[in-house]
Amino acid sequence: MQMLGGRSSSEGLANLPVPSSTVVILLLLLGFFMYDEEYVKSIAKFPLSSTSLSLSSTRSKTHGATPVGLQGEPPTNNNHLVHQQTSNTTEQKPSSPDVATAVGLQGEPPTNNNHLVHQQTSNTTEQKPSSPDVASYHDENEQLKVESPHEKCDIFTGEWVLDDATHPLYKEDECKFLSSQVTCLRNGRKDSLYQKWRWQPSHCSLPKFNATQLLEKLRNKRLMYVGDSLNRNQWESMVCMVQSVIPPDRRFMSMSGSSLVIFHVMDYNATIEYYWAPFLVESNSDNPRNHSLTNRIIKPGSIDKHAQYWKGVNFLIFNTYAWWMNSKTTKVLRGSFHEGSTTYDKIGRTTAYKRVLRTWAKWIEKNVDPSQTTVFFNSMSPVHGRSMDWNNPRGIKCFNETKPISNISTPLNVGTDRRLFAAARKTMQRMKIPVDFMDITTLSEYRKDAHTSLYTARKGKFTQKQMANPALYADCTHWCLPGLPDTWNELIFTRIVSRP
Ligand SMILES: *[C@@H]1O[C@H](CO)[C@@H](O)[C@H](O)[C@H]1NC(C)=O
Ligand SMILES: *[C@@H]1O[C@H](CO)[C@@H](O)[C@H](O)[C@H]1NC(C)=O
Ligand SMILES: *[C@@H]1O[C@H](CO)[C@@H](O)[C@H](O)[C@H]1NC(C)=O
Ligand SMILES: *[C@@H]1O[C@H](CO)[C@@H](O)[C@H](O)[C@H]1NC(C)=O
Ligand SMILES: *[C@@H]1O[C@H](CO)[C@@H](O)[C@H](O)[C@H]1NC(C)=O
Ligand SMILES: *[C@@H]1O[C@H](CO)[C@@H](O)[C@H](O)[C@H]1NC(C)=O
Ligand SMILES: *[C@@H]1O[C@H](CO)[C@@H](O)[C@H](O)[C@H]1NC(C)=O
Repeated sequence: MQMLGGRSSSEGLANLPVPSSTVVILLLLLGFFMYDEEYVKSIAKFPLSSTSLSLSSTRSKTHGATPVGLQGEPPTNNNHLVHQQTSNTTEQKPSSPDVATAVGLQGEPPTNNNHLVHQQTSNTTEQKPSSPDVASYHDENEQLKVESPHEKCDIFTGEWVLDDATHPLYKEDECKFLSSQVTCLRNGRKDSLYQKWRWQPSHCSLPKFNATQLLEKLRNKRLMYVGDSLNRNQWESMVCMVQSVIPPDRRFMSMSGSSLVIFHVMDYNATIEYYWAPFLVESNSDNPRNHSLTNRIIKPGSIDKHAQYWKGVNFLIFNTYAWWMNSKTTKVLRGSFHEGSTTYDKIGRTTAYKRVLRTWAKWIEKNVDPSQTTVFFNSMSPVHGRSMDWNNPRGIKCFNETKPISNISTPLNVGTDRRLFAAARKTMQRMKIPVDFMDITTLSEYRKDAHTSLYTARKGKFTQKQMANPALYADCTHWCLPGLPDTWNELIFTRIVSRP
């Protein structure tokens, strides 16, 4: 059930006085969120203007780090927001806008389950999942148990099911940690169907996401996303997926150095962190705020500069892909950045990618203790830049797409460089330390509807003129939140809670 309506999301938070030291940190954070790694060259033409991230009061007195909270700009026009009807829920209303009563977590019981059962296969030759089957997906008596698919179930093969009873897992205006890059509704997107799809594996079901259960697994532990802006997209998603169960004064953001942002969950002594390293190895793009867009140069054998920050982390989730895609060849530095070298060789993308993966794999094998650390590697996040890939001759990239690709009569090809996919998978298979290769590529390739498109902001919102030019300005790389990256995190959740 949906209702049209408007609601102010940030009253009382935007205008709080803030200590000046916090403002400095905020400006750093603001810069951090504004950096621009789009590989479509046209993006470099974005005008430089400011967006207004403002501060909310999540100051902690018990931690040394300077805590800050990110408050997105207040909505200027709420009329377009489509809200789930939640008035009949027995749950407490959120006491403040950032304490989300996230749909699917604490919302009303599902009202429309019919679509949940059509995929159940009774005589599959696959291993039966020990649980849960589709029928028990919403079984309220099962809440205390963590249900998880059988280890052997392929959770990456399946289909998208429209399920507005369980998705989205949180609401855009109830998570203040979202950057304005991903708040599509606030940025003017009119449709919200893209938030309501659930990933249904073919031969088992994902456990229902439960933030408390995840936080129990993270107690006294660190979870860190490492990579490019797509991993940051996923980190923001994860923060929003858990934040509703944490009282506002028991959580905060901090920065460590220029490349690491940390979300602290005080009562669990847990952190959910994001580390900027778009190529994983050292490169001239390592400064989150000031990096070369077009002239990217990497140092494939050099990783310690970044990797020193990954030591001892209990859950590491890596990715690297988008930054490789703006040229056929990759520039590899001769000498060192440290000594100011600028000469480079151009080598094939796949060759360079494999070299980087080798360096990364060696570091993992040398530095990771598998009894303390679980390692994930996300496969390629796809781009939807050519509407003919889904037979839409009138389309402009992903602009105006409101539904996933449903025609799967022939294998989908949206231009993902599958050579890099194969190289990554092969590297993981050969490693002595187990690495969970998270194959998010195909399931994401269906989601032409889920990108931020024109409803993004990085150096300010788009002008009218830019909005009229989706061919140049639509971002078909990053994803709206709530949205697709929530599913990537449901898969991570599945893995984490399935293990002892
Ligand atoms: C919500 O409650 C009202 C009154 O209690 C009822 O009329 C309405 O049908 C309910 N809506 C749903 C979706 O259950
Ligand atoms: C069971 O699976 C076999 C092989 O896939 C198929 O031929 C058969 O129709 C299935 N039976 C039912 C009841 O689905
Ligand atoms: C989440 O898990 C906890 C602990 O297992 C349980 O008490 C709680 O009811 C669950 N919440 C939901 C919404 O299922
Ligand atoms: C808190 O978590 C850190 C790791 O994030 C761990 O090193 C430390 O021992 C934990 N503190 C306690 C009291 O368990
Ligand atoms: C950004 O980096 C370039 C080269 O690394 C440097 O010349 C420039 O001064 C830097 N700009 C800022 C604002 O730091
Ligand atoms: C985008 O979709 C809307 C609604 O379907 C339509 O009115 C509009 O013409 C479309 N815009 C373009 C540029 O295709
Ligand atoms: C589905 O895709 C195939 C291959 O791209 C195309 O030939 C066919 O016309 C499409 N069908 C529909 C209904 O769009």
